[in-house]
Amino acid sequence: MSSENIASESKTSTLPATPIRPRRLRRTAGLRRMVRENHLTVDDLIYPMFVMEGEGQKVEIASMPGCYRYSLDLLLAEIAECWNLGICAIALFPVISETKKDDTGTESYNPGGLIQQTVKAIKQNIPEIIVITDVALDPFTSHGHDGLVDESGKILNDPTVEVLVKMAVSQAAAGADMVAPSDMMDGRIGAIRKALDAAGYIDTGILAYSAKYASAYYGPFRDALDSAPKFGDKKTYQMDAANAREALKEVALDIAEGADIVMVKPALAYLDIICQVREATNLPVAAYNVSGEYAMIKAAGQLGWIDEQRIILETLTSIKRAGADLILTYFAKQVALMLQ
Ligand code: PBG
Repeated sequence: MSSENIASESKTSTLPATPIRPRRLRRTAGLRRMVRENHLTVDDLIYPMFVMEGEGQKVEIASMPGCYRYSLDLLLAEIAECWNLGICAIALFPVISETKKDDTGTESYNPGGLIQQTVKAIKQNIPEIIVITDVALDPFTSHGHDGLVDESGKILNDPTVEVLVKMAVSQAAAGADMVAPSDMMDGRIGAIRKALDAAGYIDTGILAYSAKYASAYYGPFRDALDSAPKFGDKKTYQMDAANAREALKEVALDIAEGADIVMVKPALAYLDIICQVREATNLPVAAYNVSGEYAMIKAAGQLGWIDEQRIILETLTSIKRAGADLILTYFAKQVALMLQ
C-alpha cells in the first residue's frame, strides 16, 4: 500500500498519517537484543545422561550421535566438565544388564544399585550439582514396561506405585535432589510425596512427568537403554497424542498431589501443550526435548542439510517461548559450549 493510501485512509481510521514501521526495532543487532523477549541460558538446561556398569567405558549411542553411555568413573569426569561449562542440573538414566532385570524391577530399589551408587559418587565429587533421578521401572524390568504386568499383559497400577515409592525413597537416600517419576501411573506423585516425607526426605523435590505422551519420539532413548517393551506398547499409561485437555487434568492432579515442577514430554510436537500448561500454573514448567527430536536434528546436521547449531538454538528458544522454564535436552553440553 502506498503512503498516500495510508494517509488518505487515516482520515477515516485511527492509523497515523505515516506507516507504522516495526522494522525500526530490527535494524541493528543492538536494537534486536534490546527488545528480545526470551533468552536461552545454560541455567535453563538439564542434561540427561546415561550411566552403565563397568570401568573405562564410553559407548556412543548409535541413534544419538554425540551421546554416550558412561561407566561411573568416566561419567564423573564428564559431569565435572559440564559443571565447569555452567550446567547446573543433570537427569540420570541407568543402563542395566539383562541379568539384573526381572519381572518386577527389584533392582530399581537396591540401595547398592547402579543409580544409587552413581548419585552418591556424584554428590561426593560435586555436591552442588542438581541430581535428578528417573522413577520408572522400564530400565529394570525384563519385559521393558514401566510397571508390573499380569498374565494377560495388563499393566497394574497400584502394585507398580508401591515399587515406585521404594525406588524414589532409595534414590532420595542416595542423595538425589529431585526424583522424576516418568511412568504415568495414577496416584504416584502423592504416594511418593507421602513416603519421602515419612522417611524424612522433606527437601527432596518431585519433578513430575505430568503430561507424558505415548510417543514414537522415544525410539532412540529405548536403544540407549535397551529398554524397548518386549510386547505391546505404552498406550494404556502414556497419553494419547491427540489430547490436550487431558494434559491439563494430569497436570492439575500432579500439582494437587505435591509436584514441585511439572513437565510436558516430548516438547516439539507438543508446544501447544507447554503453552497451555504455562497458563494453568505458577509452578515451574519443564519440557523434555526427547531423543527422537535430538536424533532428527543430528541426522540432518550430519548430512549437511541444515545449519545444526542455528537449528538447535532456534528449537530450544521455541520451547522457552512456548512457556517452558526448564528444558531437558541432550544438546545441553553443545549449547553450553555455544553460549560461552
Ligand atoms: C522411561 C523414560 C522414557 C524416556 C524418559 N524416561 C522412555 C519411555 O517412556 O519409553 C524418553 C526420553 C527420550 O526419548 O529422550 N520411563
